[in-house]
Amino acid sequence: MVTFPLDVVIMAAGKGTRMKSRLPKVLHRLSGRALLAHVIDCAAQLVARRAVVITGHGADQVEAACVGFSAAAGGAGHALALDFARQEPQLGTGHAVQQALPLLADDGITLILSGDVPLTQVTTLQALLTLCGGEQLALLTLTMADPTGYGRIVRMGEKASGQVRAIVEHKDASDAQRQICEIYSGIMAVPTRLLRGWLARLDNKNAQGEFYLTDIVKFAVTDGVAVVAHQITDAAQVAGVNSPVQLAELERVYQQRLATALMEQGVRLADPARLDVRGSLECGQDVEIDVNCVFEGRVSLGDGVRVQANCVIANATIAAGAVIYPFTHIDGEALGVQIGESALIGPFARLRPGAKLGAEVHIGNFVEVKNSTLARGAKANHLAYLGDATVGERVNFGAGSITANYDSTNKHRTVIEADVHIGSNCVLVAPVTIGAGGTVGGGSTITKDAPAGALSVARGRQVSIANWSRPAKKTQG
Ligand code: UD1
Ligand code: CA
Repeated sequence: MVTFPLDVVIMAAGKGTRMKSRLPKVLHRLSGRALLAHVIDCAAQLVARRAVVITGHGADQVEAACVGFSAAAGGAGHALALDFARQEPQLGTGHAVQQALPLLADDGITLILSGDVPLTQVTTLQALLTLCGGEQLALLTLTMADPTGYGRIVRMGEKASGQVRAIVEHKDASDAQRQICEIYSGIMAVPTRLLRGWLARLDNKNAQGEFYLTDIVKFAVTDGVAVVAHQITDAAQVAGVNSPVQLAELERVYQQRLATALMEQGVRLADPARLDVRGSLECGQDVEIDVNCVFEGRVSLGDGVRVQANCVIANATIAAGAVIYPFTHIDGEALGVQIGESALIGPFARLRPGAKLGAEVHIGNFVEVKNSTLARGAKANHLAYLGDATVGERVNFGAGSITANYDSTNKHRTVIEADVHIGSNCVLVAPVTIGAGGTVGGGSTITKDAPAGALSVARGRQVSIANWSRPAKKTQG
């Protein structure tokens, strides 16, 4: 446990030119969540007293987005006070951290992160903070086969365990230094009172004419402060996103890790490479998920739930034993979708916000349900729309039937009581109630309440004209 107060500085002022996007780089999404939100989530788990986000390019947009991150679902659950410091113009990483200094107190440790490095694990940062201990300068480092472009860790002597003397940026490095494969990840933990003094001593006399944060290492060495490296081997944890290619690579790493974690819990995935979770997915025992399914927001699958191929499911709670057949789209948005035990949904079904389906409900192909409650055993198996409806137990809602819930100004409810049978191709014009046990004849347009137990038919009577001959084709000339 870290006993020092902790402040986090997240650098997010850079332009991200290589994304070739109008959107600031740190707002691009990994697993459906902004890169910066991943970093803030991780910081929140450290129980820091505040995080200072350094903004510059797209500052207004980035700062506005941050307000949503802490509140959003999928967040770490710990409240983290966010502050912002603007860096304009961007004169380097050292200059970036200088902007945060007025917001940092000397009694703490400052942990420096980048807003474009989304996959760092909290345990890695905890280890780094422990190493810092409020006394030492702790660097997170990694050995890379190809260290081109990164700051190199220069140590005393030849050994990889020698004292760290400096970080030399690639562009400033000698040929010999470029042979060094241990690189600085961009993440460090430093006692704030020391950081303040060192940042005041930075200059920009280097190949890039920038104020390098990494130059504080040589000041620490001069001042006799120990510089220690926490070396990790998992490159994904410190990989930054600079381009769409790198973003996609990290997305795959993230998804692969998540799929592995699900399988370790017992979830059976037809193919871990063909699953995408953008949010949180909770699974009971014996859950099976076929290929090409996408889960968004908060989704929970009860014991024995089967999700077949090509389903998109967002913000839904699906109870034990339910089966979601292929090509079903479920999106509960803020209201959520609830699916009861052993319900059968799809193929090609669409469930929208506020769909609450009881146990053993059947929703078949090309059926849309919105803001409607269906009690146990109700069925709508083909080509139907149920919007703003309350549907009783065992109701059968026929093929091609709809609730006309919208009068072009207001929405109205349709109530269909238990054991009603709605024939095919009916229009129930809301507000309207079909009494328990009633039957509505196929093709009816129902505009008035239908009594319980009655057969209600509302369509032109059939007329048959005997011996009708169709017009004969005219012969020409
Ligand atoms: C930095 C390190 C390098 C390390 C590498 C790891 C320095 C001088 N170098 O290099 O040793 O190996 O990260 O990826 O620190 N930023 C600002 N304001 C600025 C400049 C940068 O906020 O003025 C932000 C960027 O948006 C980014 C982060 O700081 O989030 C790192 O900047 P970047 O330009 O990627 O640093 P590198 O030069 O790659
Ligand atoms: Ca970088």
